[in-house]
Amino acid sequence: MTHPALSYRPQFDDRSACRARFEKVRSDTLHLIAGLSPEDMQIQTMPDVSPTKWHLAHVTWFFETFLAKPFLDSYKEFDPGFGYLFNSYYEQVGEKWPRARRGLLSRPSTDTILAYRQHVESAISTLIDIASDDAWIEVAPLLELGQQHERQHQELLLTDIKHVLSQAPDPHAPFSPPLVNADAPPEARYLEMSGGIVEIGASHADFVFDNELPRHKRWQEDFQIAARPVSNAEFLAFIEDGGYQDARLWLSDGWSWINENAIRYPLYWRDSADGWQEYTLHGLAPLQPGFPVCHISAYEAAAFAEWKGERLPTETELELLARKYPAEGVMLGDSGRYHPGPLRGGPDAEAVFGGVWEWSSSGYEAYPGYHPPNGAVGEYNGKFMSGQQVLRGGSCATERNHIRATYRNFFPADARWQFSGIRLAKRTRPASSLRSA
Ligand SMILES: [Fe+2]
Repeated sequence: MTHPALSYRPQFDDRSACRARFEKVRSDTLHLIAGLSPEDMQIQTMPDVSPTKWHLAHVTWFFETFLAKPFLDSYKEFDPGFGYLFNSYYEQVGEKWPRARRGLLSRPSTDTILAYRQHVESAISTLIDIASDDAWIEVAPLLELGQQHERQHQELLLTDIKHVLSQAPDPHAPFSPPLVNADAPPEARYLEMSGGIVEIGASHADFVFDNELPRHKRWQEDFQIAARPVSNAEFLAFIEDGGYQDARLWLSDGWSWINENAIRYPLYWRDSADGWQEYTLHGLAPLQPGFPVCHISAYEAAAFAEWKGERLPTETELELLARKYPAEGVMLGDSGRYHPGPLRGGPDAEAVFGGVWEWSSSGYEAYPGYHPPNGAVGEYNGKFMSGQQVLRGGSCATERNHIRATYRNFFPADARWQFSGIRLAKRTRPASSLRSA
């Protein structure tokens, strides 16, 4: 039986619409690299960061492996060695080149990888044309998964190249123009949210990843949650108050981590003679008080919440908030912008979706009744359900069609090269629930 996450959807009947969607995803990826040189695309700065070249090839390998090879009899492999180089983590597919050594591959060249992309795109286009109706029932959901996968890698491509470019003393800005300045936002309001028996998770009426399933019931207390994410100005106050020097604020692992790594401010801030600066994909510029604080770890988010006398919300609370708004906000490439903000007061869709991913206090685990799909695509999400925290809401590098209220992102607590920020929840229960308790 087909796994619910790969179940057939009626809109897949329109093959020309599927082709247009596929072509749009592929061309959007190339748009992101327009401001990069081949040398930029070669570098790997840490094991978590993949070279741009590798992303371009890996998303293509996904379409080749799960669609072109199994479903297109006439398909001729572009290069039989690419499976080894560009498989990421699919143990059932075969051996793979070590992740931490991706930057050591000067060959294949960027030009060869771009030719590989065209080769596989042509094959997928043919497959969309000639797949039998029976085969299409299997092909269409995998085509959708491949596109959603490439959308995820578009975000990773941006966060990875940001880490690469940020290493330089005068870092390159792949996107223009520079961002306009933003003043500190008004004081954050808090929304009163009703609890009770609530439901979270997807009902798979539309595309979802397996980890969003199944929809299920939970008990939720009434809660109060901030109407917008935390700003740079607010996080700077934490720094200036000695937040990074006060062990009482930190989880034990977090305290060890900041001291072992000499971490004293967010990843792309610089403490210069001219004051605080922040590197964005639009260049190095004075720190803007009105942008959301981003590129911070879950440890820093939790310490900040402790300093404020508040807490991080659970993923249930973040999903209940997201369900109140349409999935709109500052997202990938909107108005040519590749950085979150500026913050307004909220609450509105822009203050909930896009901008920054928000760390939840919830560990990444299976929902009750979850099971991964059979086969290698079952390795997509489920096997990572250990030692990671859930983030919600999407970011400025998340594509508009790739976010929804049920979407679960996940990273280890010390990861901070993603556009990750903070939304606070009140530590105390609302007075209304205390009265009725
Ligand atoms: Fe991937």
